[in-house]
Amino acid sequence: MRQESRKRIVLGLTGGIAAYKAAELARLLMKQGVEVQVAMTEAACHFITPATMQALSGRPVLINQWDASSNGMAHINTSRAADAIVIAPATADFIAKLAHGLADDLLSTLCLARDCPLLVAPAMNRQMWANAATQRNIAQLERDGVTLLGPCSGAQACGEEGMGRMLEAEELARDILAFFQPKLLSGMKVLLTAGPTYEAIDAVRGITNRSSGKMGYAVAQAALELGAQVMLVSGPTALARPQGAQVVDVTSAAEMFDAVKQHVADADIFIGVAAVADYRATQPSGQKIKKSADKLTLELLPNLDILAYVANLPKPPFCVGFAAESENLREHAKAKRKAKKLPLLAANLAQQAIGADENELILFDDAGEHVLPRADKLTLARALMQHVIKLRNAKI
Ligand code: CTP
Repeated sequence: MRQESRKRIVLGLTGGIAAYKAAELARLLMKQGVEVQVAMTEAACHFITPATMQALSGRPVLINQWDASSNGMAHINTSRAADAIVIAPATADFIAKLAHGLADDLLSTLCLARDCPLLVAPAMNRQMWANAATQRNIAQLERDGVTLLGPCSGAQACGEEGMGRMLEAEELARDILAFFQPKLLSGMKVLLTAGPTYEAIDAVRGITNRSSGKMGYAVAQAALELGAQVMLVSGPTALARPQGAQVVDVTSAAEMFDAVKQHVADADIFIGVAAVADYRATQPSGQKIKKSADKLTLELLPNLDILAYVANLPKPPFCVGFAAESENLREHAKAKRKAKKLPLLAANLAQQAIGADENELILFDDAGEHVLPRADKLTLARALMQHVIKLRNAKI
């Protein structure tokens, strides 16, 4: 039986080489609990087989508008049952059809007969993308309220390089799921810290930790999906910036503190996800310290606690802390929440969390504890943000 909360999309494939990415896209959407009904144009079947798409989506693929089994009404029935239609890849030719309201095959008819949103992921050669006719058609789609996903710039199947490349399956899945999120944080400002910090010891060495920044970036992404304005103060990471976030790159804890101080005044929510170094070298050397047979003593000074500073401001934003513990998780997390006066703290085991793609969180608030079971970090971040919204709404 269909769960009412489950989103249902029609994934339409048209005839472009990027059609292979649609297989992975279907898989990722299904993994996130989305029901996927695939529809393909005749041309798409030359690039990827309907059997592949059927096996991945678990449903027969719609191709032929003259198929007798649906009484000739597949275009109406399918679009009525969908929460959105996503065309990926969308060729220049199919975009032209959409812009002009043509309906000469099942997929284009389905788009014309729809009563749900239409999302289009263009995929074509850079010259075709730049062509005035395509640009006119794209502008028309935007005027018609169609949501564009990409394209991006990069290497193309024809060997050229430029704009027109379809987004990767992960990016499309992220954008499609974001499209469905109710914009509960619209008009709100979320300030976040993420990643490790690096405290120099000399010109080439320093103190840091194994934080990858993945959890912080996932929380930034979850806040963006909810319509928030996101300011991400990030220590050194190798991650792609969440699209739409304002990012301030910092290195040391002191720089992170300065950036937070500068932006905290108009923040509605502050989330400290960064693994901030607790100490820094008292006197970092400007030059590389040379090796010698003598014992080397390094003197360290404690860094200021950024989260505690924000939580103790006269009018603090809603503050969320993280706790990375290697033992006695509950005990340490509760003590940390109390010491820093936080309405909410998310605790995790450092050895499981740091650098990993998946994690498990325990949320601590005034009502007690709430376990967010093992999942990828974006799923956890979305659940965390829902909890933040619930607590914040209860407070105001
Ligand atoms: N934090 C911070 N500034 C610091 C240290 C920590 O803002 N100088 C924040 C982290 O971003 C996190 C929370 O405080 O949200 C807890 O960080 P954690 O490293 O788990 O704990 P510490 O407070 O540093 O305590 P300890 O290292 O003793 O566990």
